[in-house]
Amino acid sequence: MQTSPVAQPFPALPFGANVAWMPSAARPTALRGPALTFTGDPFRDGLERTLVHEPDAIVAMQDGRITHFGAAARIAPLLPAGTEIRDFGKDALISAGFIDTHVHFPQTTMIASHGAQLLDWLDRYTFPAELKFADRAHTRRVARAFLRENLRNGITTSCVYCSVHAHSADILFEEAEALGLRLAAGKVLMDRNAPEALRDDVQTGYDDSLALIRKWHGRGRLLYAITPRFAGTSSPEQLAAAGALWRDHPDCLMQTHIAETQAEVAWIAELFPDRANYLDVYDHHGLCGRGAVFGHGIWLGDDELKRLHAADAAISHCPTSNFFLGSGVFDIARAKHADRPVRVGLGTDIGAGTSFSILQTLNEAYKAAQLNRHPLSAAHAYYLATRGSAAALHLDDKVGSIAPGMEADLVVLDMRSTPLIAFRMDEARDFAEQLFIQMILGDDRAVQATYVAGRLAHDR
Ligand code: GUN
Ligand code: ZN
Repeated sequence: MQTSPVAQPFPALPFGANVAWMPSAARPTALRGPALTFTGDPFRDGLERTLVHEPDAIVAMQDGRITHFGAAARIAPLLPAGTEIRDFGKDALISAGFIDTHVHFPQTTMIASHGAQLLDWLDRYTFPAELKFADRAHTRRVARAFLRENLRNGITTSCVYCSVHAHSADILFEEAEALGLRLAAGKVLMDRNAPEALRDDVQTGYDDSLALIRKWHGRGRLLYAITPRFAGTSSPEQLAAAGALWRDHPDCLMQTHIAETQAEVAWIAELFPDRANYLDVYDHHGLCGRGAVFGHGIWLGDDELKRLHAADAAISHCPTSNFFLGSGVFDIARAKHADRPVRVGLGTDIGAGTSFSILQTLNEAYKAAQLNRHPLSAAHAYYLATRGSAAALHLDDKVGSIAPGMEADLVVLDMRSTPLIAFRMDEARDFAEQLFIQMILGDDRAVQATYVAGRLAHDR
C-alpha cells in the first residue's frame, strides 16, 4: 500500500474569511470508461429498475457539476468544443464518490488500539486521544491527514464527529473548504462521564454549536451536524438544548450513537429509567427526525425501527467498527424491511473502524449480512456506499449518483489493482462478479483517481 508522511500538506486552494466554494475551472472536462450508478433504491425497487451500468461511458463536467452522462458514442458528439477527455480504459470503473456517514476525524490518531470493548475503549484510548485536540496545530495536522486519507480512498463526502473543542470543527471546515468538499461535521457535545478537560456544559455547548452553525452551515458545500456524542455523555439538559437548537435549525443534520453494544444499552436504561427505550431518550429530547443519523443501531428493537422509519431518520452501518469492538452484527435486511424501511448509510467509524477503505468496509458489511443469513449483493453494497449513503444524509439530490446536474464528485476504480485481483478478474463471468471481487479483495490501491467538484483531487 502507498504511504506518505502524515504532516505533508495538501496542495490546497487558498482560503480566507469568506471564500465560497470555488468549483473547478470553467473548462469542460470528461472522463471515459465503464461506469456504474443508481437511479433509485434497489432495496426498495430492485436492481433492474435502479442500476445503470454503462460499459463505455462518458461523464462530462463543468463548473463543478456533471453536464452529460451516457454511452460514449451518444455523448461524444454533444460535448462542447475543447472538452478535455481522460480515457481510463476498459479496466476502470467510474462511480459517484463514496460517502462515509459516520466517522470521527480526531480518532485518526488512535485507529487500531487493542483490547477493549466500547465503554472501556472510550476511556482508555478515545478520550486521551481527543484531549490532544486542545492544540490547534495538532488538530490541523490530523484534519489534513484525515481528508487526505478520504481522498485516497475515493471518499468525497463524510459526516464527521469533531472533538469537543469548537476550533476542531472550525479547522476541519477550513480544510474541507480549501478542497471544495461537500462535508458535514459538528463539534461533539459532552457534559458528563468524560474527563473534565473534554467536557463542555449546557450553555457553552449550545453557544459554540450555534456560532458554528452561523459560520459554516450552508457556506459553499458545507453543512453543520449537531453532535451530542451519545446519551451516556450528555445530561438530559444538554440533550434538550441540542433538541432546541435543532428545532431552530431544522435543515442541519443531527448525529449521535445508539444501541451499539448491549452493555451500553443497559447503561443508558439506568441513566434514563423513565424512557421506553434507547431511541425514546433522543426522541423525548427532540432528537429523532428527518436528518438524524444514528450510528450503529445494532441492538434496536422493532418499535425503535418503526419509529425511525416514521421519523425518516437514518442508521449508519459501521461494520468494521462493530467487528473490531465486538459490538455485534447489524442486520441490514431487518433495517430495510419493506414494511417499515429505514434509511441506512455506510460508515467507517474511524477509529473504532479499522479502514478508510470503503471497499474494505463493504467487505465487512457483506460478512455482517452473511452472519444474518442474507447474502448482500455487490450492487446493493455499492448503492449503500454511494446513493444510499447520500439518501441517509438527505443529500441524494446533490451527490451519490452520476447524472446531469449532480455535483461532480467521482471516484475511478482500477479493477485490476493487485496481481491477485487481476488474476481473479480473468475468471469473472459477469459484471456482478467483477464488482464483488473489488469489494472483497480491493482497498485503497484500487482507487485510481478522485474528483471533487470536477477537480482532480487524488491521482494514484
Ligand atoms: N459511542 C460514543 N462515542 C463513541 C465513539 O467515539 N466511537 C464509537 N464507536 N462509539 C461511540
Ligand atoms: Zn462513532
